[in-house]
Amino acid sequence: MLTNRNLLDPLDFNLEELEEIFNLAESIIENPSDYNQLCRGKILASLFFEPSTRTRLSFEAAMFRLGGNVIGFSEEGSSSVKKGESLLDTIKTVASYADIIAMRHPREGAAKYVADSSKVPVINAGDGGHQHPTQTLTDLLTIREAKGRLDNMTIGLCGDLKFGRTVHSLIKAMSRYENIKFVLISPRELVVPDYIIEVLNKTSCPYEEVDRLEDVIGKLDILYMTRVQKERFFNEADYIRLKDSYILNKDKLNMGKSDLAVLHPLPRVNEISIEVDNDPRAWYFRQVECGMYVRMALIAKLLGAK
Ligand code: NCD
Repeated sequence: MLTNRNLLDPLDFNLEELEEIFNLAESIIENPSDYNQLCRGKILASLFFEPSTRTRLSFEAAMFRLGGNVIGFSEEGSSSVKKGESLLDTIKTVASYADIIAMRHPREGAAKYVADSSKVPVINAGDGGHQHPTQTLTDLLTIREAKGRLDNMTIGLCGDLKFGRTVHSLIKAMSRYENIKFVLISPRELVVPDYIIEVLNKTSCPYEEVDRLEDVIGKLDILYMTRVQKERFFNEADYIRLKDSYILNKDKLNMGKSDLAVLHPLPRVNEISIEVDNDPRAWYFRQVECGMYVRMALIAKLLGAK
């Protein structure tokens, strides 16, 4: 049962529960008008203490498309946190107005920290450089659509694997499927954190760490490109040195398989040239659409809407 649960970490739901969400998302994609009153009378609170375009707007659009309503803020400055209110008091307050909360916060573990103070489901919409489980739902739905499966594949993750929370969540989630291999492509300074390597070791998932995309692109089924996370750097000079480590252009893409699927959580800065956008292997704008549908399915499930 997903009703009244939180989604704080990508491993909070088992594979069967994920299937339930993806199946509902697919039914919504096929017949959206069947679902446009599903959450009528319900309120989503969207609390964003960090910038966002896709995550916030897709959550809000998702709730409106289910017939529900949305309250919230898109920056800390417009909430009473600015006056010194604690995050726990903020959440307690919001939970008495809304039926479900989606929260993004710069602090790692913030969503988990507040969840116990909320009497309504809390969804982690990104906690610092830690996790981003609803981006992972988006990524999995997109991969399922592109490949027709979530097992038996080689996934390359490229770019900022250190600070990229979408990377951490995707690795955790995908390591549970059969016969998944990871190729981790990053500069030495931006390799995945140790706790993610531990996940891979514990699940006996094969992985390799490399620094050149060209050397490995030919063996990938999925290439997950990421932005270097400027806001998490302590030192601007390091950011400038590393920001253009990888740029996927047509020539490089053509070294990949003909059925490679390229994903990116977006926003993109320079890491994918726009000339790649029209290639049938570019899935990142379809991924944006999947993000809204999967959030519709998630909200409906957590609210127990029928
Ligand atoms: C990502 C995020 O916020 O972590 N964006 C998103 O939610 N689609 C990736 C990023 O900001 O680079």
